[in-house]
Amino acid sequence: MALEDRERWNQKYLAGWKSSLHKTLLDFYRFAPLGRALEVACGTGENAVFLAKAGFVVDAVDISDIAIQKAKELARKEGVYVNFICADLDHFVPEENAYELVVNFYYLNRSLIPKLKRALKQEGLIIFETYNEKHTLVKKDFNPEYLLKEGELLQLFRDFEVLHYSESFNISTFVGKKLR
Ligand SMILES: C[S@@+](CC[C@H](N)C(=O)[O-])C[C@H]1O[C@@H](n2cnc3c(N)ncnc32)[C@H](O)[C@@H]1O
Repeated sequence: MALEDRERWNQKYLAGWKSSLHKTLLDFYRFAPLGRALEVACGTGENAVFLAKAGFVVDAVDISDIAIQKAKELARKEGVYVNFICADLDHFVPEENAYELVVNFYYLNRSLIPKLKRALKQEGLIIFETYNEKHTLVKKDFNPEYLLKEGELLQLFRDFEVLHYSESFNISTFVGKKLR
């Protein structure tokens, strides 16, 4: 499965698909204490590079070696260092109790969420945003397994302090702090 994912995403990135810097990151990253940040499914690195420029020490993970190559080029061009890691998030285990900020944009791997929680330090911030089930109204062939249900992020992060939650048509966003 993971090899298929890598191949599928490599093809997209080779065809010129790019990930993007998300407004939600710009709006909320300041709520995290400056320190270490982890971005999962970082794509071509726009969010990770932004955080490095803002002063975070950043680890960023993606399965696509093509995306990671492009992300490294972006970091070099922008004059910052990001520890880009090419790995399968089905198996990747982030360092525990290590990060002030964890960022997950447009990637849903429910089995990863407990690991992301453990990766955060107490009072650390998670910014999580991805598509919900209404996305099938826009993209009929989207695999429903990768779509959030109504209120699901609130449920998944019920042990966190909620700083922001929204379901804006097909996009669900959660920003919260780890309490314990
Ligand atoms: C929709 S893109 C999102 C990219 C970026 N986070 C953004 O919001 O622009 C999904 C990303 O997840 C990565 N991905 C998919 N399956 C993965 C896996 N099993 N392990 C690590 N990364 C994976 C893809 O390579 C791709 O870069």
